[in-house]
Amino acid sequence: MPKYRNSLNTNQDEDPLISRRSFLALMGVGACVVGAGALTGASMLGFLYPNAMKIAPSVFSLGRPEEVLSHDGKIFNPKQKVFIETKDGRVRVQTAVCTHLGCTVNMVETGYSCPCHGSTYDIHGRNTGGPAPLPLVYYMAFKGASGDILVDKNKTTLDWDAAWYAPSS
Ligand code: FES
Repeated sequence: MPKYRNSLNTNQDEDPLISRRSFLALMGVGACVVGAGALTGASMLGFLYPNAMKIAPSVFSLGRPEEVLSHDGKIFNPKQKVFIETKDGRVRVQTAVCTHLGCTVNMVETGYSCPCHGSTYDIHGRNTGGPAPLPLVYYMAFKGASGDILVDKNKTTLDWDAAWYAPSS
């Protein structure tokens, strides 16, 4: 195997113990080994935490029932863009995303109003004016394995009575 001198080796009498090319080749092999180890480790973690324990991306938690139901009223959750309404130990969740082009609607005295193009909805979320083509849906709430109240954005209803969820029943 030919020996190469690197530019840092100023002593011409002594050959370097390792050439620059060999060093870079070793670094490349090392990076591959580390990468393969990381991939193997990540897949092993998948076995430790099976899919059954993961929450679908469409599902989010409202929190503990005693906290969620501690007061009556309707609040806006900006992270999930939903209105969370609690009353008499029940909760229901309605989207705050306008069905026209997706702006966030505001609560008004008559229901909801969209600031973008003027769509209006009544207190149940039925579209009553402007370009919005559809009503605001309710998301179904349920009790999760941890005891939290969970909401699934993939399970919707337009029935405002059926949308209520009572954790105690
Ligand atoms: S996005 Fe709401 S009216 Fe256009």
